[in-house]
Amino acid sequence: MEKRKVAIPQLKEMKKAGQKIKMVTAYDYPTAVLIDKSPIETILVGDSLGMVVLGYEGTVPVTMADMIHHIRPVVKGAPHTLVVGDMPFMSYNVSREEAIRNAGRLLKEGGADCVKLEGGAVVAPTVRAIVEAGIPVMAHIGLTPQTASALGGFKVQGKDAAMAAQLLADAQALEEAGACAIVLECIPAQLARLITEKLTIPTIGIGAGPWCDGQVLVTQDMMGLFDRFVPKFVKQYANVGKVMLEAFEKYAAEVDAGAFPDMGHSFTMKEEELRKLE
Ligand code: KIV
Repeated sequence: MEKRKVAIPQLKEMKKAGQKIKMVTAYDYPTAVLIDKSPIETILVGDSLGMVVLGYEGTVPVTMADMIHHIRPVVKGAPHTLVVGDMPFMSYNVSREEAIRNAGRLLKEGGADCVKLEGGAVVAPTVRAIVEAGIPVMAHIGLTPQTASALGGFKVQGKDAAMAAQLLADAQALEEAGACAIVLECIPAQLARLITEKLTIPTIGIGAGPWCDGQVLVTQDMMGLFDRFVPKFVKQYANVGKVMLEAFEKYAAEVDAGAFPDMGHSFTMKEEELRKLE
């Protein structure tokens, strides 16, 4: 049976039905094609792009142009998968008008189905404004990488009751503002369960334990393609990096030895044509 793209309202129905939502990141066409063939319903073109593809230290330098450039090939490669595009740092923080305009660009120019932005109750009015403009918004609380330095680094959030209560209030404000789902990053599993129980919109966890309505992982992390640091919550499902490195080493050795290319990987011309050159 052909895979059918999940519509935004279906996310809530999936939560109700106890159906887990699966999401991974992608930033290019070939990866999107593979995900589209899998049972994963949602792709996030995350601003993790900055770290795992563009080689930056964090996500802050990622621009709107970067996001649109990478959302386009993903949308092209995954016509049967819901594509969420991250709003980069400062693309939604200056004014509501600018936030709506930039969210619209991710849909109009990138082709995304939904945008995601980071922040708690303080960004709820922005979420509401974007949603009222007709653009679905996924929220993101807990460890929010764009403001990681203000949070004291890449650390688990909401471990004490006061912070946990704040995160619950944030989640409720974002649901109230019209977010269609909410990413919970790096928070205790028990808190994620509580938030999941209190909301009618689905929670999608990353480092937030098993009780969320869905899960998301960064593809480069789960495939062993990014080893600068591997957070505790990452499970490596394959070591593609090792396979690629072995292939690069073998290729280099064969080129050095003159074993590649052999005639099976070369083109020939007729002898008579060659003789005309003499
Ligand atoms: O940018 C990203 O990949 C994300 C995930 C970590 C949820 O926001």
